[in-house]
Amino acid sequence: MKQLVLITGASSGLGQAMALHYAHMGARLALVARRSDVVKTWLNASEIGADSYEIYSADVANVDGMAAMALACMARQGVPDVVIANAGISVGVDTSVRTDLDVMAHIFATNVLGVAATFGPFIAPMAARGSGTLVGIGSVAGIRGLPGHGAYCASKSAVISYCESLRGELRASGVKVVTLCPGYIATPLTQNNSYRMPFLMQPEQFAAQATRAIEVGDSYRVIPWQMGLVAKLLRVLPNALFDRLLAGRPRKPRATDPLS
Ligand SMILES: NC(=O)c1ccc[n+]([C@@H]2O[C@H](COP(=O)([O-])OP(=O)(O)OC[C@H]3O[C@@H](n4cnc5c(N)ncnc54)[C@H](OP(=O)(O)O)[C@@H]3O)[C@@H](O)[C@H]2O)c1
Repeated sequence: MKQLVLITGASSGLGQAMALHYAHMGARLALVARRSDVVKTWLNASEIGADSYEIYSADVANVDGMAAMALACMARQGVPDVVIANAGISVGVDTSVRTDLDVMAHIFATNVLGVAATFGPFIAPMAARGSGTLVGIGSVAGIRGLPGHGAYCASKSAVISYCESLRGELRASGVKVVTLCPGYIATPLTQNNSYRMPFLMQPEQFAAQATRAIEVGDSYRVIPWQMGLVAKLLRVLPNALFDRLLAGRPRKPRATDPLS
């Protein structure tokens, strides 16, 4: 039986690229997004046969909706071999603006709770089978706090430590947990960034390296590797140096900022 890969955030960017890569590897796909019509459109334009995928419309921040999606997936396609919690949003916030705290709550609901809501329904069936891989998409932005980007950085920091906790919890069950931390990848999420994005990578290249890391069951991988070195350096950089390095760096645009 071909492996079944479930991917959230499959309507664009990294989710779409990983779906295409897995399809070319011969996998069956369970594709999740709110905009299921967008998923349908890019699938129709691809060479992927209609018998190798199912599309599920769901909001990762809706825990009950995700449980219903998971039940539908397992009934139609079986228990996935790989579940990739990729859906995420990235918006700048200004903590002194009241409405930005609602933006922050939305970022946390999507980026943090959404990962747990994606994994949760599959843990018991995977553990009963004794195999499966849960993949959390963190970010290099989760390693140190970037000015103006606090909500996103904190959410990705939470994803990294949450996945680490889960890895320990599931160690004896046969279910692996892989944390992937992308650097800068050219997707709609980064297209309005006004700052320099070192080692910017194309989503197809990311997908090729991500699927390899998942296949070998890496516990933690930064992609591209150059950003892995940057991430290691960031971890040990003293605060005074880190602050000086980031002084004057343009901020992540807020939801209400005009596009640059
Ligand atoms: N691009 C980068 O440089 C970069 C770097 C580090 C980490 N990442 C992470 O990589 C992941 C994918 O990002 P991307 O760059 O591919 O961004 P993207 O092109 O904007 O795609 C984001 C995806 O998430 C989905 N999504 C957002 N909110 C959702 C919700 N509430 N429920 C279900 N799906 C939702 C969107 O689908 P719908 O709108 O159709 O629901 C979309 O498919 C994110 O977790 C992001 O934080 C990206």
